[in-house]
Amino acid sequence: MKIKAAVLEGPGHEWAVEEIDLLEPGPGEVRVANKFAGMCHSDAHLKHMGGMGTYPIVGGHEGSGIVEAVGDGVDRVQVGDHVVYSFIPSCGTCRYCATGRSYLCDWGANAGTGLMADGTYRFERNGEGVGGFCALGTFSERMVVSQRSLVKIDTSIPLDVAALLSCGVPTGWGAAVNAAEVAPGDVVVVFGAGGIGVNAVQGAAHAGASHIIVVDPVPFKREFALSVGATRATDDATQAARWAQELSAGTGADSVIVCSGVMDAATVGRAAGCAGKGATLAVVGLSDVPTDIAVALPVGLLAYNVLRIQGVLFGQCNPQSDIPLFLRLWAEGRLELDRLISHRYTLDQVNQGYVDQEAGTIIRGLIEFP
Ligand SMILES: NC(=O)c1ccc[n+]([C@@H]2O[C@H](COP(=O)([O-])OP(=O)(O)OC[C@H]3O[C@@H](n4cnc5c(N)ncnc54)[C@H](O)[C@@H]3O)[C@@H](O)[C@H]2O)c1
Ligand SMILES: [Zn+2]
Ligand SMILES: [Zn+2]
Repeated sequence: MKIKAAVLEGPGHEWAVEEIDLLEPGPGEVRVANKFAGMCHSDAHLKHMGGMGTYPIVGGHEGSGIVEAVGDGVDRVQVGDHVVYSFIPSCGTCRYCATGRSYLCDWGANAGTGLMADGTYRFERNGEGVGGFCALGTFSERMVVSQRSLVKIDTSIPLDVAALLSCGVPTGWGAAVNAAEVAPGDVVVVFGAGGIGVNAVQGAAHAGASHIIVVDPVPFKREFALSVGATRATDDATQAARWAQELSAGTGADSVIVCSGVMDAATVGRAAGCAGKGATLAVVGLSDVPTDIAVALPVGLLAYNVLRIQGVLFGQCNPQSDIPLFLRLWAEGRLELDRLISHRYTLDQVNQGYVDQEAGTIIRGLIEFP
């Protein structure tokens, strides 16, 4: 079957919307018609990363759609079902799924590469495999994915807000609630108030934080964060550290959650400077280059302040239970989703969406499929 998709040839290229081939779903696989695709910053990293992703690759790991066809043995969904994609699959039976850590599911091992979990491709061009980011590739009209990458949702739920639940909302919300373990009364600092960071703010507010300080260089982002639960906002990390000390009547924040778009050592260092005694430094953001970021931290901070450095993947969420939870919170008016969608694009406008993300004029862009 021929489909239109946004393909990246390699680092340094722009997204090219072209017609490519889509294979038929194999055993345990599903063909979905994409309805909405969220534009996370992680796809933008693919344009910079060398030697990590498999290229060419169809971008997109956030989205929602409708099941069109199922392969043999598919038992989680049926034709016509509405689904949200999970950027980490959940098999349900590996050691990690079985212990409530689906974000580490063994089937997610290829998530960053564009290959399916079995090392093969479902997109093709001239008989050669084309990757799908996170074993998905939502910047496409249709895709073939494992049923393990799908979470079925009720047909009454609007598919646009649902699309945000593939990555941005769970990753941010879970960074605060699960990874940083924000507790009632806490002082929290969030670096970066984009598609992920504003959800870290929402998660921290849910968890009962008394003070949520946002650091972002863009005034629009700071204002938006204040509208979803942040209590103070600044472009100055030193100011944030001062506020955290004052408000905690102590050494600083209980949690610092780093969601800035392009991670670098300087940002992590500034974030650590906001952390108080016994704090957690939760690192969510990724880098443009896959090489390690060397972060120098004073030993006093680590040992005497008992600083915990906590990596974050998918907000330490379990998609099969957490995506329905987010939908319930949204239906109850306790989680903002609608306003996170700043702008809608056609697939042909994908490059413009990323120009807007870099310019700081949107919280989340959404590609809408006719
Ligand atoms: N760990 C995970 O599971 C996971 C999942 C999704 C995304 N991510 C990563 O999280 C990061 C954020 O993604 P996003 O979609 O929210 O991006 P985004 O571009 O929407 O938002 C990034 C925000 O960071 C701000 N910013 C830039 N430099 C900053 C600095 N020095 N200090 C503070 N703020 C700064 C920007 O103004 C922007 O508001 C990206 O690196 C992305 O790849 C990680
Ligand atoms: Zn993402
Ligand atoms: Zn698993």
